[in-house]
Amino acid sequence: MARTAICPGSFDPITNGHLDIIRRTARMFDRVVVAVADDSQKQHLFTLDERVLMVQEVCSGIAGVTVRPFTGLLTETARQEGAVAIVKGLRGADDLAHELPMAQMNSTLAPEIETVYLMAEASGAYISSSLIKWVCSLGGDISAHVPPVVAEKLGEKL
Ligand code: PNS
Repeated sequence: MARTAICPGSFDPITNGHLDIIRRTARMFDRVVVAVADDSQKQHLFTLDERVLMVQEVCSGIAGVTVRPFTGLLTETARQEGAVAIVKGLRGADDLAHELPMAQMNSTLAPEIETVYLMAEASGAYISSSLIKWVCSLGGDISAHVPPVVAEKLGEKL
């Protein structure tokens, strides 16, 4: 049976750090669903469609990866996709503090699905979508931290 993992996120926009986690997940699972959250409570720079398209474009060369939007509970989407694991990246202690309650709640909602964390590569552990947007909005060079298409789209937006 094909083993599926789900990599959820806002991806506003996708960074090289996200891409690293998706690539490493694809090495461990037969199928990876990258689930782009449509969360109306969050203010995004990019629309849901724009975020999905960027993720699709940068993941197109990774075997076994599909990209989809989702709304509502992550555990419901994970179940729909037949995922056995939710895979996310951890950059440090702040991420852990933020992630632990979500992992515990998701485990209560869907005990059959494990949440698995991959440690971020040290080189990109300080990178977040928010930091990228901030630096880019001030004219800084973010090209080392995002795929070229994302750098281009950020340049157009900001
Ligand atoms: O990239 P982000 O913004 O850190 O991703 C957060 C995301 C989308 C993974 C999180 O907000 C989420 O799981 N949203 C789905 C709604 C949900 O299931 N909420 C309950 C979590 S316990």
